[in-house]
Amino acid sequence: MGVTTIAFLGDVVGTPGRRVFRRAVQDLRDVHGVELVIVNAENSKNGSGLTPDQYHELREAGADAITLGDHWAKESKIFQVLDDPKEPACRPANLSSRAPGKRWTMVGNSPVAVVTVLGRLYNITMPSNDPFECVDSVVAEIVAARPDASVIVEVHAEATSEKIAMAWYCLKQWGGRVVAVVGSHTHVQTADARLLDGRLAAMTDLGMCGSRRSVLGRDVDKVLQVMVQQRPIAMDVCDMEATATGCILKIDTDARRAVSIAPFSVTPPG
Ligand SMILES: [Fe+2]
Ligand SMILES: [Fe+2]
Repeated sequence: MGVTTIAFLGDVVGTPGRRVFRRAVQDLRDVHGVELVIVNAENSKNGSGLTPDQYHELREAGADAITLGDHWAKESKIFQVLDDPKEPACRPANLSSRAPGKRWTMVGNSPVAVVTVLGRLYNITMPSNDPFECVDSVVAEIVAARPDASVIVEVHAEATSEKIAMAWYCLKQWGGRVVAVVGSHTHVQTADARLLDGRLAAMTDLGMCGSRRSVLGRDVDKVLQVMVQQRPIAMDVCDMEATATGCILKIDTDARRAVSIAPFSVTPPG
């Protein structure tokens, strides 16, 4: 198959996030030659969760695989999608084996697989199991099912250190199998995209698809009332300067290595 160009977009936040995702995918495919699109959709439902309708909306807009994070179970109707082997969607892998949903998924019809693990550092809202042990067991499972697979690991976590550590861990334990380790959850894109040892693509956080004039996609004034005045009010999603950020990966799926990784940011006019 040779080199495949893949875009991985950060967390979709609410209606503006879903709208800018659609616009960004057009750009990524038309201008940047992107062939496959992966997106974390954990905040699609007004900032928390993903409904089946929103899942299908994102698929129709061009998502070839959809991942989730700590908000994976906020909308329980999504479980039927996550359980369906035909739907390219997965929950975080390092949860109970009895939790609904798949631990990994293939991306479109390609030999690329994606798995998401939750981090543990500074994690007070996402009870989860050891992400490193989990990567070992999930990648072994992927290899058994798809010996041709190149694996992308998404680390949905607060701490930059834990995400960078996971990238090095995957290079040392699974080099030649895991081709990229990218982070999500902070909604803030980082400027550290690079190749480790020239073959594993790494980036600490993809950022988000959502309003840039905001606090992580939520209304500035509402967040300030909560943080400055300690008022217990809802921090609504806002619709100001919707922007999509993430990375573009070039993966050699024959050699099972990354060729390049670059950040992108798309702010459509209007
Ligand atoms: Fe998250
Ligand atoms: Fe998020």
